[in-house]
Amino acid sequence: MEAARSANRYPDNRSEHLRRALARTMGVELDNVAVGCGSSGLLQQIVQAFVEPGVSVVYPWRSFELYPILVGLAGGTPVTVPLVANGFDPGAIADAVDDRTSLVLLANPNNPTGTLLEKPELEALIGALPEDVIVVVDAAYHEYTGQGDEMLVRLVEDHDNVIVTRTFSKARGLAGMRVGWALASDELIGYLHTTQLPFTVNSMAQAAAEATLADTDTLARHVAECVSERGRVAAALVARGWEIVDSRANFVWLPTSEASEVAAGLETRGVMVRPFPGEGIRVTIGSPPENDAFLDAMAQLRPVPTPED
Ligand SMILES: Cc1ncc(COP(=O)(O)O)c(C=O)c1O
Repeated sequence: MEAARSANRYPDNRSEHLRRALARTMGVELDNVAVGCGSSGLLQQIVQAFVEPGVSVVYPWRSFELYPILVGLAGGTPVTVPLVANGFDPGAIADAVDDRTSLVLLANPNNPTGTLLEKPELEALIGALPEDVIVVVDAAYHEYTGQGDEMLVRLVEDHDNVIVTRTFSKARGLAGMRVGWALASDELIGYLHTTQLPFTVNSMAQAAAEATLADTDTLARHVAECVSERGRVAAALVARGWEIVDSRANFVWLPTSEASEVAAGLETRGVMVRPFPGEGIRVTIGSPPENDAFLDAMAQLRPVPTPED
C-alpha cells in the first residue's frame, strides 16, 4: 500500500530494502545481491556487461529463447551445444568453450525440457571451465527442484566466476511485476550495477517481491501442489504411451515430431500448450482441473493403445 501511495516518487534505484531482505533470506551479504526487471532484465545486464563483437557465448540448445536474442543484440557470437536425451551434455559444453568465450549460459532446470544438471555434474562442469569465463546458472525454476536455496549460494561462494539468476515470476507468482535477483561475488554484482538501467524495478514490484519472501507458507503450498501434479500428469502421459522426460520444473516436455499438430488438436479442445515445431510441446502444470482438462484432451487425441496395436 505504501508503495502505491508513493507512486509519484521514483523508486529506490538500488532496491536496497528488497536486496537486504534477499541477502538475509539467502544468507549472503548485500553486495552479493542485485535485483532487476525480471531475471530477463538481469540476463540482459549480464550479456551487456560481458559480450561484444568478437566474443562468443556458449549455451546448450534447445534452451531459453531469450539467450540468442540477447547475444545477437550485443553483437556476440552464439555457440550452441546440442542437448543429449533432452538434457545437457557437460563434456560438449566444456569443449565448446575457447579463448573467445566470455559467458556460458545454463538454464538449470532447462526450459523447455525441464531437465536438471544435478549438483555434482554442475560443479564438475564449472570446475572444468577456465576461471575467466563467467558461468550463469539461470535458476528460474529452482524452487521446483526440491534442492533449497543453500546449494545455489554455495555455488557462488565457491566460484568467483558464477552468477546465479533467480526470479519472482514462477513459483512466487509475480510474473507481471517483473522482478528477479542475482547472486554473485561483489565484483560481478558491481558489473551488473554498471549495466542497470536507472529505476529498473518499480516501487510496487520491490514491495510485492519482499512480501513473497516473508510468505514461505504460500510458496511451499504452491510448490508441493505443482510437484505432485507434475508427477500425476507425467504418470498419466506415460500410461498413454508418451515417452516423456523427467521434469524438475513447473512444466512437462513431450518430445514429438508432431508438435504443431498436437498443439493444434489441443487448442481445438480449449487447451493451450507451447509447441516447438518438429521438436516437442511444453505443457505448463496448472491447477488440478486444468491438468485434467489437458489429460482429457490428450486422451481424445491419442487413446490408450490396445494390446493388438
Ligand atoms: C530459463 C528461464 N530463465 C529466465 C526466464 C525469465 O523470467 P523472468 O524474466 O520473468 O524473471 C524464463 C522465463 O520463462 C526462463 O524460462
